[in-house]
Amino acid sequence: MLQFKNQTVYFRSCEDMKELEDASIDLVITSPPYNRGKTYSSDHGEEFDDNKDEEEYLAFLKRVWKECLRVSKPAAVFFLNIGDSATDQGISEKVALSAEDAGWIRIQDIAWLKSFLGKGHYTPSGGNKRLNNLWEHVFLFVKNKKQYRLDPKSIGIPYADKSNIGRYSDIDLRDAGNVWLIPYEKTTGFTVKKGHDAPFPIGLPYRCIQLVSNTKKVLDPFGGTCSTLAACVKLGIKGIAYEKYPRMDVIKERITEGETYKEENVALIPHLEMTIKHLVNLLSRLSYFPKKIKTRKEYEKLCILNEIMKQLNLTANFKEKIEDRLNQYSQSKNPEEEKEKISPKLTQKRL
Ligand SMILES: C[S@@+](CC[C@H](N)C(=O)[O-])C[C@H]1O[C@@H](n2cnc3c(N)ncnc32)[C@H](O)[C@@H]1O
Repeated sequence: MLQFKNQTVYFRSCEDMKELEDASIDLVITSPPYNRGKTYSSDHGEEFDDNKDEEEYLAFLKRVWKECLRVSKPAAVFFLNIGDSATDQGISEKVALSAEDAGWIRIQDIAWLKSFLGKGHYTPSGGNKRLNNLWEHVFLFVKNKKQYRLDPKSIGIPYADKSNIGRYSDIDLRDAGNVWLIPYEKTTGFTVKKGHDAPFPIGLPYRCIQLVSNTKKVLDPFGGTCSTLAACVKLGIKGIAYEKYPRMDVIKERITEGETYKEENVALIPHLEMTIKHLVNLLSRLSYFPKKIKTRKEYEKLCILNEIMKQLNLTANFKEKIEDRLNQYSQSKNPEEEKEKISPKLTQKRL
């Protein structure tokens, strides 16, 4: 057992959570083993067999969900995160059904976007059979439909159209909906090397906890690196996790990360577009503009600016100048060498 920063981790199987009393938990957040042969190895070298027969896997999960139900208060909420993978489409739904079989009531499916329009890390598979999976399910269950409450505005976003303030609510805040963009900022390489293959970002449990106001005790039956407890540290509440194959250094490091965790502010797209328009108007009034692109880096930056101006249908008096400089730059380079590096044809097309 580990007691660390008001968090507790039991190093045993969550099939029997005998340390926890009946009806003592407000919120359960977890991501179970995906049964896809991922490796979870402990400090003691034991390796978790993540490749069970499907029936056995679902029966195991059902036992855990029942145990979660036992320890949950009547008003408890349960967020179950699981992603589809290329080869086993449909298993997520079976996992959700295993929770229903155990007695949980399904309310809603939230889509957690790990990457969107180029924001957030993912490793492109490069295959020609299917597209990359950029989102995962977060199934929302409750123990008792009448007793649970959510506070959507606690994770709300400002209105895109400010004339709505006062019409629907007196404050500039509305429900952000069931699509959550919580991008992966870096690869999972560090934790993978140390034996944990699938941590979710701290932002995911952080948002779940905020959504259920007055949460005092959170449980993650499949703790892994204990990202859920890191979110609890940030919010100053008590977290409890079970992890059968623990890596102590990884867990302590992750929980400590919670202290300095900062939620990323994702700018609203309509506001971003409007702001770019304003900036372009301001820039239009400046007379300075570089005569020539000198480096490839400068070239790439101007390519992006040009691309955005096209997409937003922006016409500023320096737009032609940008295109002019880009053309000058591509033409001034050795055509053979540049074909490899820039592929001017392609760039022209996209501009
Ligand atoms: C998908 S990972 C959870 C990752 C976690 N959300 C994080 O952010 O690090 C699932 C974890 O469940 C653990 N596990 C597997 N069987 C278990 C069991 N019977 N009891 C407790 N933990 C178990 C695995 O070792 C693995 O760390």
